[in-house]
Amino acid sequence: MPGLWHRIIKGGSPQDYASLPLNENEPASPSKYRRSTRSRVVNGAILLGAICSVFGLYYGYTRISALPTNTSCDSIDDGYRCSPEISHFWGQYSLWFSVPSELAVDPPRSCSVSFASVLSRHGGRDPTAGKSMAYAMMIGEIQQTAKAYPEEFAFLKDYTYTLGADQLTDAGRQEMVNSGANFHRRYSKLVAKNVPFVRASGQDRVVESANKWLQGFAQAGNATAETIDLIIPEGSGSNNTLSHEICTNFEGGPLSEIGGNAQAVWMDNFIPRIRSRVNAKLGTNLTSQFIVYLMDMCPYTTVASPTAQLSDFCNLFTKDEWHQYDYLQSLNKYYGYGNGNPLGPTQGVGYVNELIARLTGKPINDDTNTNRTLDSDPKTFPVDRKVYADFSHDNDMSGVYAALGLFNNTKPLSNTTIQSTKETNGFSAAWTVPFAARMYVEKLSCKGEKEDFVRIILNDRVMPLEFCGGDKFGRCTLSNFVESQSFSRNGGNWDQCFA
Ligand SMILES: *[C@@H]1O[C@H](CO)[C@@H](O)[C@H](O)[C@H]1NC(C)=O
Ligand SMILES: *[C@@H]1O[C@H](CO)[C@@H](O)[C@H](O)[C@H]1NC(C)=O
Ligand SMILES: *[C@@H]1O[C@H](CO)[C@@H](O)[C@H](O)[C@H]1NC(C)=O
Ligand SMILES: *[C@@H]1O[C@H](CO)[C@@H](O)[C@H](O)[C@H]1NC(C)=O
Ligand SMILES: *[C@@H]1O[C@H](CO)[C@@H](O)[C@H](O)[C@H]1NC(C)=O
Ligand SMILES: *[C@@H]1O[C@H](CO)[C@@H](O)[C@H](O)[C@H]1NC(C)=O
Ligand SMILES: *[C@@H]1O[C@H](CO)[C@@H](O)[C@H](O)[C@H]1NC(C)=O
Repeated sequence: MPGLWHRIIKGGSPQDYASLPLNENEPASPSKYRRSTRSRVVNGAILLGAICSVFGLYYGYTRISALPTNTSCDSIDDGYRCSPEISHFWGQYSLWFSVPSELAVDPPRSCSVSFASVLSRHGGRDPTAGKSMAYAMMIGEIQQTAKAYPEEFAFLKDYTYTLGADQLTDAGRQEMVNSGANFHRRYSKLVAKNVPFVRASGQDRVVESANKWLQGFAQAGNATAETIDLIIPEGSGSNNTLSHEICTNFEGGPLSEIGGNAQAVWMDNFIPRIRSRVNAKLGTNLTSQFIVYLMDMCPYTTVASPTAQLSDFCNLFTKDEWHQYDYLQSLNKYYGYGNGNPLGPTQGVGYVNELIARLTGKPINDDTNTNRTLDSDPKTFPVDRKVYADFSHDNDMSGVYAALGLFNNTKPLSNTTIQSTKETNGFSAAWTVPFAARMYVEKLSCKGEKEDFVRIILNDRVMPLEFCGGDKFGRCTLSNFVESQSFSRNGGNWDQCFA
């Protein structure tokens, strides 16, 4: 079966199989990679036909209430609450949850919010097309080679693979509706008088996420939903601060492999024990990669459940194993897109320069991935608004966090020893870029203070902003904040993209 898989994936050799990214990381666009994934899937689908279930690619537009039913594990204020001891350890496949904060998340009482922006990931989705095919293959191999289905593995005997590809699931749509309501609740005074300026990166699930967010935002204010102001196309020829793609040396070559390499080392550390156990129980000989895929099935089948109930796949692994899995995902974000990659932080520079322009109300100054045509036109890049909402992807958001310096105090992640969020200064893929992740940036006017303050809140966790003198509320003065952002103001290492 793995042999068949090699042939399906590329019509080629096992080396080709090895070149399938460990972690597909939802390529943000119809890029080279995504196009090739599609054609693999088409070839694969013809070959596989009866073995694998076919993807339900099309979803109708559904209207979802901002009030989840009582059977849902999700809520507007707290996010995903069921079995947090495992569900908050699914890396970027975690459903959004309110992350614990050492600093109070409410602004000090003497302050009022004068500006709020959100940078949001899309909601929960089905696996990317290539991954969906791979998971179907993995289930197929189990069902063709298993000799027994003991205890918690019993459900696998008659399990039918039905996951779609790429698009939001209903639970993912609900996350975005809830997110819009969350933002409205938090900034109710400000948004009562100020309509958000909304941009979305061009991929379907991102655009749909923006629309769902607007729906929840409108419902929370008893209003009719606004429309998106600007959709920026994705692709290798598109300057888009919400989707990296144009920095040549980051997109291909050695830098694009650092994340996967770190993951491979960590996999060798923790997967063999799980692999032995699972293979002993089932009587199979699943590869390490298939074991990771079997773990991926837990978050994906959970987010595919209309009410996001924890699925049977989740019970196949222990709490410790989920922590190890979460760390596997964090390594890829850190070394693939964050501080651990020489050009990771640079990918977020364009967005940070846009943020500075909006915070200061001044024209943007950027020579990286901004589209100068769009950003010099007040219709497509106003800087005099008070509320902004942008919709993007996990990898792009990881680059923005890195450009801001939010994890500059995090020691480089070890590829051989697991580190908790305590040890990483709050860096984990589940804490930073879960489905429906959100970074709120707010400006505060406080009584008795001449200057406005800036705060940054990642998924309800107030970032300490130690690099600009963050106080016990996480506040920096606007001028200190702008001053601290010299990395972005100087264009990061953009020159190294093409050197
Ligand atoms: C949900 O639970 C709340 C409080 O537990 C209750 O007041 C409400 O009626 C319930 N709603 C539904 C639809 O069952
Ligand atoms: C929306 O309507 C409900 C029910 O009438 C009311 O309780 C709530 O305060 C309203 N919200 C806003 C933001 O107007
Ligand atoms: C920049 O935006 C303009 C206006 O939407 C568009 O026509 C152009 O193709 C974009 N250029 C790049 C390089 O993204
Ligand atoms: C693993 O970490 C070690 C120590 O930091 C480093 O030297 C090595 O390059 C890393 N290997 C990979 C593949 O990431
Ligand atoms: C299991 O698969 C590995 C390759 O992944 C192979 O080396 C090994 O011989 C196989 N073991 C059995 C018992 O088939
Ligand atoms: C797009 O970005 C590239 C690289 O920074 C730049 O050379 C080009 O002028 C930009 N195009 C637009 C329309 O902003
Ligand atoms: C974060 O670290 C980088 C690399 O050392 C540095 O260039 C940047 O200025 C730092 N950012 C902040 C906000 O301190």
